Amino acid sequence: MKPPKISPADNMRLIYEVLSHGNIPISKFERLCRKYNGIFRVWLPSDGNVIIVSRPKFVSNILLKNQSNYSKSKSSRETLSEVFGYSLVTNEGEVWEKNNKRVSPIFNKDNIQTFFHIVYEETENIVSYWESTKAPYYLQQEFQRLVFNILGRLLFSTDFPDIKEDLLDCITNLQSNFASNSPSFWKRLIKRSHKDNPDIKKNKRKLEDNLQNLVRSRNENTTKYNDVLGQLINTQTKQIENRQIIDDVKTIIFAALESTATTLSWVIILLNQNQEIYQTLHKSLSTSHNASRKNYQYVSHSSLTYIIKEALRLYPPVALAPRIVNDDHWISNYYFPQGSKIIFNPRFTHRDPNIWENPTKFCPDRFEPENFDLKSQGSYYPFGLGKRTCLGKEFAMSIMSIIIKYIVNRYRIEFTNNDRNIGVSQGITMTPDKNLKITIKSW
Ligand code: HEM
Repeated sequence: MKPPKISPADNMRLIYEVLSHGNIPISKFERLCRKYNGIFRVWLPSDGNVIIVSRPKFVSNILLKNQSNYSKSKSSRETLSEVFGYSLVTNEGEVWEKNNKRVSPIFNKDNIQTFFHIVYEETENIVSYWESTKAPYYLQQEFQRLVFNILGRLLFSTDFPDIKEDLLDCITNLQSNFASNSPSFWKRLIKRSHKDNPDIKKNKRKLEDNLQNLVRSRNENTTKYNDVLGQLINTQTKQIENRQIIDDVKTIIFAALESTATTLSWVIILLNQNQEIYQTLHKSLSTSHNASRKNYQYVSHSSLTYIIKEALRLYPPVALAPRIVNDDHWISNYYFPQGSKIIFNPRFTHRDPNIWENPTKFCPDRFEPENFDLKSQGSYYPFGLGKRTCLGKEFAMSIMSIIIKYIVNRYRIEFTNNDRNIGVSQGITMTPDKNLKITIKSW
């Protein structure tokens, strides 16, 4: 039997858009996903045949059931290594297995609890600052600063204040340069890739120097540190050199920072757009949670967890790395030829009316266990799926819950303008397309 081919969507207009933007514009991408019911193929000058997948059955087959037949593609790992270095996000095969075994215990449930006091203290610090100055602040930048302060203390504890401003400066510069320098076909042709960008080069060097100094001075120091850098250094053997520890640190910072800050921004935006849910959350937090910061207990609060999950459904901030088909494969009679590249579109899966009722509505209750049907694996994957699922998933959910709980329990966050028409802008993550300013008011 001749297997059905995956529908091609390679018309001239699409190719022109890809050539000019370096990727397919979000709206176009979604129209195509709808038209071809969650699976289609495009031909891109930079990558050849690419299969775009958002139908749950294919997502779960590739990321879960047959995950050993789909690796992260070499070209995407190379691009990502420019910021992440060579660690979990960019490794494959045996090297990845070893790294995963070494680093994942640091992010297990018990170990991350030892860091929660930092999350409380840093949230308290930034909120007191907002309160004392009363000035309007940029939402995304403030969450980025808060998550950075948390990550910095978690990674480097006492060494952190000395390098804080320098590090934040080069990391934010790297993020924005990297996002605005997407390696489109034209740029590749004239060889202006990330590697050649002078700003990126300068900031990479600065970050590298800072991290090298930190790791070197820790290795010369006999004091035992129980921060994440100390725990990473404890995993060091003869084969694991300082280079690897530096890349682990970079990976943690870049994987955690913008994804978490962006999700926090979307949660606040969605709560503001849905005042009834905001008020109900505040009431339930103020009655059930007495902000016991003394013992830094983190008590999960189910309605808040559903709100964060729903924000991640509507605005999954992170794109999964493209996969490559290792051996010819058929899924439901669809043919995936060896060597083809696969790109996922979680945003479309998460808004597919065949799966979700009122898909564009902010409705956290849909995650109540009795409403949420996990039978359809592959229908929700903001943290990815399978063995390459996000290593910091538990940690991210906990930090976000602690921060939102702290803020919503005490304050109303208000936007300085009433423009409710907020779209997404595709950078490293899917951030709000407007630079929103906020103020806080006591309840
Ligand atoms: C809301 C916050 C976050 C979101 C939405 C998110 C999302 C993701 C996604 C979708 C992937 C999988 C990419 C793929 O399959 O190609 C991933 C991988 C990863 N994430 Fe996260 N992430 C978040 C926060 C964090 C945090 C806080 C950390 C670290 C502390 C972290 C560390 C990692 C690492 C190390 C990987 C690579 C895992 C591997 O390939 O073995 N992430 N993340």
